[in-house]
Amino acid sequence: MFGKEQKIYKFEKIKRAKRAALTAQPGAELIDFGVGEPDEMAFPGVVQALQHEVEKPENRGYADNGIQEFKDAATRYLRRIYGVGNINPETEVLHGIGSKPVLAMFPAIFINPGDVTLMTVPGYPIMGTHTRWYGGEVVNLPLREENGFLPDLDSLPADARKRAKLLYLNYPNNPTGAGATEAFFEKVVKFARENNIIVVQDAAYAALMYGSRPLSFLSVPGAKDVGVEIHSLSKAFNMTGWRLAFVAGNERVIAGYGNVKDNYDSGQFKAIQKAGVYALDHPGISDEITAKYERRLRAMSGVLAELGFNAKMPAGTFYLYVKMPKGVKGGRRFANAEEFSEFLITEKLISTVPWDDAGSYIRFSATFESKGRADEQRVLDEFKKRMSGLQLEF
Ligand SMILES: Cc1ncc(COP(=O)(O)O)c(C=O)c1O
Repeated sequence: MFGKEQKIYKFEKIKRAKRAALTAQPGAELIDFGVGEPDEMAFPGVVQALQHEVEKPENRGYADNGIQEFKDAATRYLRRIYGVGNINPETEVLHGIGSKPVLAMFPAIFINPGDVTLMTVPGYPIMGTHTRWYGGEVVNLPLREENGFLPDLDSLPADARKRAKLLYLNYPNNPTGAGATEAFFEKVVKFARENNIIVVQDAAYAALMYGSRPLSFLSVPGAKDVGVEIHSLSKAFNMTGWRLAFVAGNERVIAGYGNVKDNYDSGQFKAIQKAGVYALDHPGISDEITAKYERRLRAMSGVLAELGFNAKMPAGTFYLYVKMPKGVKGGRRFANAEEFSEFLITEKLISTVPWDDAGSYIRFSATFESKGRADEQRVLDEFKKRMSGLQLEF
């Protein structure tokens, strides 16, 4: 199988289109709204914590399934930010080397051939990919605008409910920017209980909310009976490269994860976990990061709305997800979002990510590079200027 696949994947196509556009217009500036990671470094306090810890001999060795200080900090963080006060730091929380490997390990714990994982689409595909590698099947739950980009659990056929072992959720959601509601999470708990399904809620962006409080699945009554939530320091604390996350919730699920994890890796470097403790104890960092993305997203959605896009502030994340136009007035038609995204790179040197999974949309990320506030404004002005000539039809 490996290496024999002929299909060129979306992200490779984007890279090729970027290279071609830059070759055609040498020296021109590419405005990159395509990246899915913070454009800035971790905050100085976190960096200093690592510098301090890295010199201590007691931090040098294998960390195995993690140090208790980090688990304690994760428990404190859940209580302080999300009002989740019922997590036992000894048995109901474990770290991960980022949330990606945590998601990759879940099918190893639960999926046997013929089992089903329910995945929301569009979305982050890792748990689905690994489900297939274990002989399981993926049933997609489309996220549609008319449902507030929440999956319609009632629409699932009986066979899929019966065979489903895992339900993957991700709120606030990449790429749609949608947030969950307490009522939705309560429905998920009921659904999981009735159908004997384990819920894995990916909270990678949970700290980045605009206009409403961050919401944890674990804050809903009964959630701990049916699932877990994964929190990452990558986006909330500008720490993507550091590789640090934690998973919290159901004790038996956490024990299963601990068992599999122990056979995959030997834990994140203890000095990084201790810097992570500093971060989790300084949630003001996430507030500053959120303020920056909010400023950028407001400006970006303003530009897009003026052009006729149905662009609104997202509930959370750093993404704007907008329906693609049908075409340019009197000119080109776009068959799908991939074509529109390619058009924006080629014609305007603006990079985005297309999604054609449930309707055709493109995603603009507020993580574009800038050299400070004045330069940020310059990039936003340049975006406006390049887009302003476009006569789009929706
Ligand atoms: C929805 C979602 N989950 C998980 C991740 C991975 O994050 P981490 O850096 O914690 O592995 C990403 C990264 O883009 C993401 O978008």
